[in-house]
Amino acid sequence: MAVEAAQAPAPAPAAQASPGRAWWVEPALTVIAYLGFVAYATWAVFNGSKAFFAPYLSPFDSPAFGLLRFPTGYLLPVLAAIPLALRATCYYYRKSYYRAFFWDPPACAIREVRKGRYRGERSLPFALSNLHRYALVLTLLVTIVLWIDAIRAFDFDGRFGIGLGTALMLVNVVLLTLYTGTCHSLRYLAGGNLDCYSCTRAGKLRHRLSSFLDRLNPQHGAWAWYSMFSVGLTDLYIRLLQSGVLHDPRWIPGA
Ligand code: FES
Repeated sequence: MAVEAAQAPAPAPAAQASPGRAWWVEPALTVIAYLGFVAYATWAVFNGSKAFFAPYLSPFDSPAFGLLRFPTGYLLPVLAAIPLALRATCYYYRKSYYRAFFWDPPACAIREVRKGRYRGERSLPFALSNLHRYALVLTLLVTIVLWIDAIRAFDFDGRFGIGLGTALMLVNVVLLTLYTGTCHSLRYLAGGNLDCYSCTRAGKLRHRLSSFLDRLNPQHGAWAWYSMFSVGLTDLYIRLLQSGVLHDPRWIPGA
């Protein structure tokens, strides 16, 4: 019996590919959210005031004053730029900003608007996306610093305590760890680059690690969104405490 290969439908203009559906809503929301985050992050990093309300420190202003003994004013933009570089070159973000900003194409079944002009990521500025794995390694180091900040958020003048700010900083660093830990490049480094586990040193361990990351990876896009909002919210909460608009509920045993 002859079996015919299933044919994927050819990409069509949006009105035909998705008749009567508001396919443009997702790209539009993506544009609004990304532009909002970039504007807020730029303001937070360069506005000249540090978001610090003891013992809370904004992720945009880490490391803590004097913690690493660096000239902080010089270091701050560099440290903030590392996670931003990871996001800008992230495979998930690339997919969504290609769809939302360039409509190249705007969705799977919709025809490209600028047909024939795609040149891959072989020329600037998109060739910079190939630096993603280096941004990942540097971001893993930044994540360690953020864990130190989150642990310090339990220290209220030498006494253990938990405030709403502690909870926000902890949730934020957990979400950032999940986002970074589910990175495609990390999966590749863990074992995706191997042809043969049994012929490699520590192959069993790498196989386990790689399989574990494989299971987590499908949620990478969700962690990308959640962690983006948690970074902004944590910074905003600390700034509102700093300016006296909000009061931080705290539990400090014996206080
Ligand atoms: S693929 Fe998204 S952070 Fe690496």
